[in-house]
Amino acid sequence: MKAIVYEGMKNVKVSNVDDPKIQKEDDIIVKVTSTAICGSDLHLIHGMVPNLPHGFILGHETMGIVEEAGKGVNNLKKGDRVIVPFPVACGHCWYCNHDLYSQCDNSNDYGDGGGLLGYSNTFGGYDGGQAEYLRVPYANVGPLVVPNDLADEQVLFLTDILPTSYWGVDIAGVKPGDTVVVLGCGPVGLLTIKWALFKGAERVIAVDGVKYRLEHAKKYGVEVVDLEEHDDTGEYIKEITKGGADQVIDCVGMDGRMTKLERVETLLKLQGGSKSAIEISSKAVRKGGTVVMVGVYGARYNMFPLGDFFSKNITLKMGQCPAQAYTKPLLKLIEKGKFDATDIITHKLSLEQGKHAYEIFDKKQDECIKVILKPN
Ligand SMILES: NC(=O)c1ccc[n+]([C@@H]2O[C@H](COP(=O)([O-])OP(=O)(O)OC[C@H]3O[C@@H](n4cnc5c(N)ncnc54)[C@H](O)[C@@H]3O)[C@@H](O)[C@H]2O)c1
Ligand SMILES: [Zn+2]
Ligand SMILES: [Zn+2]
Repeated sequence: MKAIVYEGMKNVKVSNVDDPKIQKEDDIIVKVTSTAICGSDLHLIHGMVPNLPHGFILGHETMGIVEEAGKGVNNLKKGDRVIVPFPVACGHCWYCNHDLYSQCDNSNDYGDGGGLLGYSNTFGGYDGGQAEYLRVPYANVGPLVVPNDLADEQVLFLTDILPTSYWGVDIAGVKPGDTVVVLGCGPVGLLTIKWALFKGAERVIAVDGVKYRLEHAKKYGVEVVDLEEHDDTGEYIKEITKGGADQVIDCVGMDGRMTKLERVETLLKLQGGSKSAIEISSKAVRKGGTVVMVGVYGARYNMFPLGDFFSKNITLKMGQCPAQAYTKPLLKLIEKGKFDATDIITHKLSLEQGKHAYEIFDKKQDECIKVILKPN
């Protein structure tokens, strides 16, 4: 089959690889109908996640039709149309039983966190879903059947960025009347803005340095702040909010725009990637407020503004979204027409165009926000 594989720093290729096979009784094989590229895939191709060999199949936002089901699969059959959440989770360990699917104790032999599809050997070594077929482990737990009258585009993001953005707003505790700052207007940030409004936030301030993405945020009727226009974005937000926002949701992560000092520290290997969004958060949040890091961080950081958070009584929350805990209620909202995420899709390409797709998403060319890939 064809699949998008890692080919070294900032490089992927569409390659011919072996078809996946059922390995355990509770596996399924999905014939992929749609798959997407996530900001988290960019961390992989930027070399920020260790143990990613050349030839590793990428992708963790995938849906399709069940092609084959192992003997131990009791709730799915060949022909079912499913979305596949990105965390690999057993469904019965303490963490899965407490809705912390992304921290499953049984799905990753190589690290503390749970397994993730298509996310290096550090996260379980599972082949990804930017391919014609995908093996899904623990199929009794993750995959969710979706109704045929909803298009792939309406439900595909239930695999990751819809639960992720909802979860960020949920654990931040956004409620009617709140002021929320959303850092990053990529796919995750834009959906986070929409969920914050859905939850009744009175004022939402969206931050990015990429003009066309800020323009997209403006369409939701929120205020925007352009990183390019401020020397100290955090201070500026503190000023215009008269002391800071109730919640700051960081939808940037370690690929954020680096300050000069960060560039030097990264070169000297004192830290991996950027903490610029964390610095902004520390200033843009009000005393007693909450900062949620939805953006992914993978390394230790020098000069983490711990004292700033401490002195303001800030609550910090973070981690990989336990997507399985949210897929069913969010599907209901889509079915009822109460939430739609299709406006962020800017490109629908074929899987064969995967290399080009990564390039425009990574370099923010052609006004790219979210790319969907379809195998022929
Ligand atoms: N926690 C989870 O479970 C989970 C799930 C999915 C994605 N993510 C993470 O969410 C983040 C966003 O994903 P995405 O697909 O939207 O990625 P993306 O790369 O398209 O978007 C990130 C945006 O942040 C902007 N940015 C850079 N530095 C900034 C700064 N200092 N302040 C404000 N904006 C800044 C960029 O210009 C870009 O538009 C990534 O880190 C991704 O790994 C986390
Ligand atoms: Zn993702
Ligand atoms: Zn588990």
